[in-house]
Amino acid sequence: MSPRPIIIDCDPGQDDAVALFLAMSSPDELELIGITAVAGNVPLRLTERNARVMCDVADRRDIPVFAGAEKPLIREAISAEYIHGETGIDGMDIFDPETPLQSQHAVAYLLDTLGAAAPSSITLVPTGPLTNIAAAIVADPQIIESIDEIVLMGGAMREGGNRTPSAEFNILADPHAADIVFSCGRPLTVMGLDVSHKVLSTPERVGRIGDLGNAVAEATAGMLSFFHRYDTEKYDSPGTPLHDPCTVAYLLRPELFKLKLCNIAIETESELTMGHTAVDFWHVTERPHNANWAFDIDADGFYKLLTERLARF
Ligand code: BDR
Ligand code: CA
Repeated sequence: MSPRPIIIDCDPGQDDAVALFLAMSSPDELELIGITAVAGNVPLRLTERNARVMCDVADRRDIPVFAGAEKPLIREAISAEYIHGETGIDGMDIFDPETPLQSQHAVAYLLDTLGAAAPSSITLVPTGPLTNIAAAIVADPQIIESIDEIVLMGGAMREGGNRTPSAEFNILADPHAADIVFSCGRPLTVMGLDVSHKVLSTPERVGRIGDLGNAVAEATAGMLSFFHRYDTEKYDSPGTPLHDPCTVAYLLRPELFKLKLCNIAIETESELTMGHTAVDFWHVTERPHNANWAFDIDADGFYKLLTERLARF
């Protein structure tokens, strides 16, 4: 079978970076046809630079990288330097990448690529705020026909929010964009905090990755060691949650996850609960199913997969 074409829309971010590496490690299953960057964890000029750094580190300078939205559709931008560091990828050696930034805007790239693609042929993997994807859908609603599936990281149900009591960062950062994406009608698979908080990057797991000795593994271990400090204190846990790679791991090994078809609605009005993902897990409303919500994961299987794949570099 030919590899599944994917576009990763991201805001690297240490965990976005690991998601990129995991996708690049798996060319038999996934063809990473493009990377679109969005403002999120840090401003756009850093997220697009960081995406290109990962292409250099993985020796994949052939993957086109596009810069997209600098701010959310409606709300003011929020960021997360207090978690990711001023660069977004603190913990690794950062340099000026050779991988070029494409001149085309990320939204124009999404419109062109999806506009020209066969029905249900491209999978979108958003790991940041959903601004780029929503802007493309609004500009040309027809493009959704080309989307096979959207596998995204965002939202929370049982875990509660990580940025406010109600909201997870990616959804809070652009709730109006999230509302558009969650209502778009294409198959949606959602990796929220309920699963990402189960995949803890403990020092033992990060150590096994560091021991691999290649450049990608070293960058990963460095970033995850930095990432460790904030979340382990916040959650009083032995390791930091590794959010974004859950998306790519799902594409590679869906059997590692437990999922349930639900309705998920996004709060866009209440300031108190802005960005809340109302997951109708027990089907207590008549609202139609619009998303496959991941609620459990085999964490050891996830780290085994990640470590095996990073060994390939
Ligand atoms: C999400 O927010 C960002 O800080 C991470 O990169 C991840 O995408 C987790 O809430
Ligand atoms: Ca992210």
